[in-house]
Amino acid sequence: MNQRIRVCASDELVDGAYLRLAVAYDSEPIMAFVFRHRGTCLAFRNLCVHMPRELDCEKSTVFDASGRYLRCSMHGIVYDPLSGESMSEICNGKRLTAIELAEDAEGVWIVDRRVKALPGPR
Ligand code: FES
Repeated sequence: MNQRIRVCASDELVDGAYLRLAVAYDSEPIMAFVFRHRGTCLAFRNLCVHMPRELDCEKSTVFDASGRYLRCSMHGIVYDPLSGESMSEICNGKRLTAIELAEDAEGVWIVDRRVKALPGPR
């Protein structure tokens, strides 16, 4: 059975909030972010499709001003929060790397087989 990685309790992830999480993706240490959008928990690798920058590299948020879309704070690419697809002219149609999540009575979990916990405290 694939190991699942606990993210947080469900009530710790409210709509409009996000958490950063250091994990291994295909054995490479990466930063991911997890957020709740209209009730659904979603996660992506925190790596813009335009340049190798984290979406929250210039501002401490991954959302645009409306809170309805994801936005890279470097040059402003706006992403669909459900698909991770760029809706901007820059890199139109390119997608953030999605990470599979599950939510149950015990909380929010990463269940993506490409993702492993990093050794040591998070
Ligand atoms: S690095 Fe993200 S929009 Fe340019």
